[in-house]
Amino acid sequence: MSKPPFPPRHPPAGRGVPGLAARALAAKAVAGVLGQDQALEDAFDDASLEARDLALARMIAGVSMRRYGTIGTLLEKLLVKGMPRKSGPLEAILITAAAQILFLDVPDRAAVDLAVRLARGDDRAQAFSGLANAVLRKISAGKEELLAAIPPEADTPSWLYKRWSAQYGEATAAAMAAAQRVEPSLDLTVKADAAGWAERLGGRLLPTGSVRLAHNGPIRALEGYEAGAWWVQDAAAALPARLLGDVAGRRVADLCAAPGGKTAQVAAAGATVTAVDRSAARLQRLGENLKRLDLKAEVVTADILANDLQAWKAEPFDAVILDAPCSATGTIRRHPDVAWSKSARDIGAVADLQRRMLGRMAGLVKPGGLLVYCTCSLEQEEGEAQIARFLEGNADFALEPVLSDDIGGIEGAITPGGMLRTLPSLLPDPDPVMAGMDGFFAARMRRKG
Ligand SMILES: C[S@@+](CC[C@H](N)C(=O)[O-])C[C@H]1O[C@@H](n2cnc3c(N)ncnc32)[C@H](O)[C@@H]1O
Repeated sequence: MSKPPFPPRHPPAGRGVPGLAARALAAKAVAGVLGQDQALEDAFDDASLEARDLALARMIAGVSMRRYGTIGTLLEKLLVKGMPRKSGPLEAILITAAAQILFLDVPDRAAVDLAVRLARGDDRAQAFSGLANAVLRKISAGKEELLAAIPPEADTPSWLYKRWSAQYGEATAAAMAAAQRVEPSLDLTVKADAAGWAERLGGRLLPTGSVRLAHNGPIRALEGYEAGAWWVQDAAAALPARLLGDVAGRRVADLCAAPGGKTAQVAAAGATVTAVDRSAARLQRLGENLKRLDLKAEVVTADILANDLQAWKAEPFDAVILDAPCSATGTIRRHPDVAWSKSARDIGAVADLQRRMLGRMAGLVKPGGLLVYCTCSLEQEEGEAQIARFLEGNADFALEPVLSDDIGGIEGAITPGGMLRTLPSLLPDPDPVMAGMDGFFAARMRRKG
């Protein structure tokens, strides 16, 4: 897809019109994802909008990506001659306006009017402002009927849906696709007294120990944020570090550690942690997070694939956790842009990287120590297949099966081979917002003593 240029070359007609800046930013964020050059969240980093407009822009862009398959199908149907060529940001303007009309509690008239203004404010889109008006009005007038004709799996790219059907069966693939259409809850990992914090925050204590809230406002405003009582971490993302068991007093290496969710867990559990990541910027966030939480770790900026590991690997560790970079297809509920910015080719590339990383782990673990490998991917090449290969080549390691008690008894999350495999469709709940978890894979291996 071509990358629409932003900001528009002319200031949008009606600059200062309420809500226009939020729509412009939402369209810019979506254009960035479709142009394959930006993660959705990064579009909001330097935005100089008022908090309310910023929140609205985020919401519009988020739902645009979450329901991009549906919206794209509708636009294809209604734009009889296809998306006009060389129309600049028109596509992103239409997608974000359709998202408002179909899925948000925003007056349709405002969504249409502001989209037309945005189109008029751009050299290349302005010739199509009438078309934008007509198409968006059609969506507004026929929304129920239009939506009824869209298949439920439309919001998962077909290459990914096919993979999931092949890996997990049609019914599970359908349930995962349905789960990803819903904006998820906020999950927290709490330093101490999870039950007390669940009550104080009006949330729910999950069987895995995480606290779950139906909250989509600013995180910093929640009680306990400033005091460092908890951090944001999906319930599934909190499970791999739990597989290390009691780490109090142990030396643990957290590799690929930033922004530090797992480092914080292991440090809070009383381990001496070495947190390694190659990204200085991401490690800065890790440092800030640990400071707020009043937790300590030795933080090392290093490439774990580099030849010289001596800078941080003075002697083998009691336990190592490798949270390898991955395709992140398990996090689509929280980052819906991931679905549309990845391709099947990305999976092969990250699987190769993971294989090389795992290949370096053997020497880092003490005899008798544990290695936990995890990824937030739903793809078996990044999970089960990596572990099978690692165990084949490292006879001194044995899989230590994950037990139901390790993960609070959640059902359906342990593979027949004893590995952790969470799916977005697990942890069902009558309220879809309170259901589900990220797709994570983890395997626990012990080095023979
Ligand atoms: C999935 S994220 C880690 C999330 C983190 N463990 C947490 O729980 O918050 C993967 C991380 O791997 C890091 N990374 C990628 N390649 C690396 C390498 N060769 N050496 C060290 N870190 C690497 C990235 O910078 C990124 O921070």
